Amino acid sequence: MTQQTETVLNYHNRTKHRTERYAKGPESLDWDDQPDQFRHFSGCEIVALPKPGTDLEPLFTDLDTPEIIPPKPVNLANAGLLLELAFGLSAWKQFGPSRWALRCNPSSGNLHPTEAYLISTGNDFIQSGVYHYVSHDHTLEQRCRFSNTIEESGLLIGLSSVHWREAWKYGERAFRYCQHDIGHALGALRYASATLGWSIELLAEASDDDIATLLGLNRTDDFKVLEHEMPDIICRITPHPAGKPLDSNTLIEVAQAGTWFGKADSLRAYHLYKWPIIDEVATAASKPRTVESDWQAVRRHTMKSSGTKTATAIIRQRRSAQQFDGKMSLLPQTDFYRMLAAVLPTTAAFEHWRWSPKIHLFIFVHRVEGLEPGLYALPRDLDALEKLQTATLADLDWQKVTDQIPLYHLYSGDFRLTAKNLSCHQPIASDSAFSLGMVAEFSETLDTTPWQYRRLFWECGLIGQVLYLEAEAAGVRGTGIGCYFDDNVHELLGFKDEQFQSLYHFTVGKPLEDKRLETLPAYGHLNGGV
Ligand SMILES: Cc1cc2nc3c(=O)[nH]c(=O)nc-3n(C[C@H](O)[C@H](O)[C@H](O)COP(=O)(O)O)c2cc1C
Repeated sequence: MTQQTETVLNYHNRTKHRTERYAKGPESLDWDDQPDQFRHFSGCEIVALPKPGTDLEPLFTDLDTPEIIPPKPVNLANAGLLLELAFGLSAWKQFGPSRWALRCNPSSGNLHPTEAYLISTGNDFIQSGVYHYVSHDHTLEQRCRFSNTIEESGLLIGLSSVHWREAWKYGERAFRYCQHDIGHALGALRYASATLGWSIELLAEASDDDIATLLGLNRTDDFKVLEHEMPDIICRITPHPAGKPLDSNTLIEVAQAGTWFGKADSLRAYHLYKWPIIDEVATAASKPRTVESDWQAVRRHTMKSSGTKTATAIIRQRRSAQQFDGKMSLLPQTDFYRMLAAVLPTTAAFEHWRWSPKIHLFIFVHRVEGLEPGLYALPRDLDALEKLQTATLADLDWQKVTDQIPLYHLYSGDFRLTAKNLSCHQPIASDSAFSLGMVAEFSETLDTTPWQYRRLFWECGLIGQVLYLEAEAAGVRGTGIGCYFDDNVHELLGFKDEQFQSLYHFTVGKPLEDKRLETLPAYGHLNGGV
């Protein structure tokens, strides 16, 4: 085991929530001191994007076979729409004097540590360079102008995390949540691209240093101390038919030779608590350049969704349920199966994912038509089935439930109280139709490649994003659950070591609306409204 893997494993164990002690976080929170959710760079030219809110024709179900969607032209309006549907605002909520924005991508605690960047080359609608997306204003801030003339037309999206924004509330466990959020953002980007008839290619070979160079994150003087951004992901957006892509090394050279502008404004918060372990794990889990095989599952026809809405409507209406109706009628079995079929790696939603699946679901079924309440499993890769069977309790029966999806019945019983208690006593895990734990093939994955720690959380976030949108399409609602008692989950399943670890929870059911909250339009403030 490498020193870095050891650091990562120590971090992971230290940031487990335990029934007797939560992972280390701030002892008090001053909400007036919350870090600014919207980063701005001063001293950059601002590029206004066309008005947000455009609806497109494709139905959400069309995204199962995205190649049937006619590609939209690559222009400023559609690049803006891509950013809006992936990372833009979806609504404002108001309660008394408090007002907060929601976005198309969810975020633990709504803190939004993820920042998004657009890189454009050889497009006539925008100067070649690097741009930071400001979701609040729906504008781009030009961070870099490329001086070289590049003819190849290209559009890339880079994602980074301001760890401190999340750590402000969640302390040491925040690094995990930042990674979940990146997975969700990647999922959001894939749905947005598919809606435009475009696809995305995850440039999985790139190192963090490469991404930092491309996005200007290594320009230390442009960021305030403790408010720096860490590089995570870079993707190429490919409208069909794909043009000749610009080689990544050339792109890095071009970015290095470019003219950079602006400095990140302060996030306007006092750094009362410090969490040095986050920097330690971030360094240990940083990604070098790698050679990645072109892993891709063969797409199989998924089960048809019962949804009839457009993709843009589903994307913009996605929300987290804060409360569920514990007396809901049973969730139709077809909707349940469809949601599970949608998270299998053989769907279009995972076509940009460059690695074989390492995350499997253990599901607490509470209220699903035709299924006994109890514990079920959905191995997302049949190669993992035997390993999962061996690692779990001997008295689980592992009976295949249906031919349609790899769903296995393990144990019958009422798991509502257990699910709630495991998820930090949150009723959202018990009042739903089902809730689940995402279990990673852990120690083997990290043994020699500690950076894959982050990748496991990204895969969880990606699955979570699929579930969020599928739930909306089925007329119910989902919520990500980052707060759960890690080792109690492992104990329940029978895991005795770190071969498997639960990295994220999720719940789906019939939401109860909080009538005290007012919902306001996403971009009313750009039209002179609130
Ligand atoms: C990684 C992650 C973990 C989350 N954990 C919880 C949780 O433990 N409990 C909860 O009520 N909501 C949880 N949420 C939901 C967020 O609070 C929600 O996404 C955020 O408030 C933004 O609201 P929205 O999803 O409606 O846009 C989580 C979301 C994410 C992405």
